[in-house]
Amino acid sequence: MYGAAERTAFRGAEKRYKLYKTLPHRPKSRMKTTSGTKPTDLSDVVDFKAVLDSFASGRDLPTGILRFDCDGFDRPVFCIDDRPGFFFIPSALTIEEQCYWIRESLATFPQPPNRTNLTAIYGPIYGLFNAAQNQKVLIETEDTDTLVDHELNGSKSSPHSQKFLFAETSSVHRVETCKSIAALALLKKLRWSTLGLQFDWSKRNYDVSLPHNKIPDALCTLAKKMAVPALPFGEDFHPEAAIVNYFGPSDMLGGHLDDMELDWTRPIVSISLGCKAIFLLGGKTREDVPIAMFLRSGDIVLMAGEARECFHGVPRIFTDDGHAEISAILSQFSAEDDRCYADYIRNSRININIRQVN
Ligand code: OGA
Ligand code: MN
Repeated sequence: MYGAAERTAFRGAEKRYKLYKTLPHRPKSRMKTTSGTKPTDLSDVVDFKAVLDSFASGRDLPTGILRFDCDGFDRPVFCIDDRPGFFFIPSALTIEEQCYWIRESLATFPQPPNRTNLTAIYGPIYGLFNAAQNQKVLIETEDTDTLVDHELNGSKSSPHSQKFLFAETSSVHRVETCKSIAALALLKKLRWSTLGLQFDWSKRNYDVSLPHNKIPDALCTLAKKMAVPALPFGEDFHPEAAIVNYFGPSDMLGGHLDDMELDWTRPIVSISLGCKAIFLLGGKTREDVPIAMFLRSGDIVLMAGEARECFHGVPRIFTDDGHAEISAILSQFSAEDDRCYADYIRNSRININIRQVN
């Protein structure tokens, strides 16, 4: 096969687990397929929920998976024999905590001065989630002073001269010469936001000259508490930055290293929210065969020490009813006021990863 020889083990695993959509206009049989996707063999995927169940009922753990004994840490933590520095904390967050962080990730974290992937195109956008909830439309602002909703767009004395602002859908026909996009469509294009020290994706480094807020106290407290299993005894973790990733149904995160932080003995604390995903934990080269594992909402992963040198990525998220495992979250978001959260998260995954930069 052309190209097969050059394909790395990591790339091979990505191809194996990625989402394959079946062509809708060429049904192989008249039976309705469940989700319009080709089934993937998931038998090799490590399932830490099952590991936790085995541990709780005193059964043997799968080969290569160990319980990590950590003084003063109040929940089971697991590690992998040949991936030192990697830790998995299954169900680290309650459903209520998961919903809290989903709300924060959508309504608060994308707010300026935090930057998002949309900032480069539209400038700072205030109140994106609120605008999506209220079916607003983002429009270019020239000669549209009477139409824009200043309440949603923050203070008028903002230092930025905003080019784009939210307006009522009903007013948009009056400014049809302007470029416009529905806030809800924009929310679906949100791919990342950065908290604390701002990560610059073009330079793949932290840009300390960019204006930023400290990362939120509650996130800092959570990360410090969860980092304990990965830290040398008595040492501290000082969260300075977080990257929030937003995954739609066919999004993936390719194999990579996070190598822009100075001290690799400090962990990256990585929180999963929303739809279940597959995480690939490779070795120090792309030739090493990666270990595949499920990441569920509420799971927390730590990568420190040698695991900081391991390629990793997310080739797949599951949005179908059989695999997404988000019914508990959806029932928390069942009130009419929370409809936008429920609609978002039923097809999405959010990852918050927290880092000490210096
Ligand atoms: C990252 C990362 C993993 C995830 O953002 O660097 O590795 O679970 N994320 O989404
Ligand atoms: Mn990473």
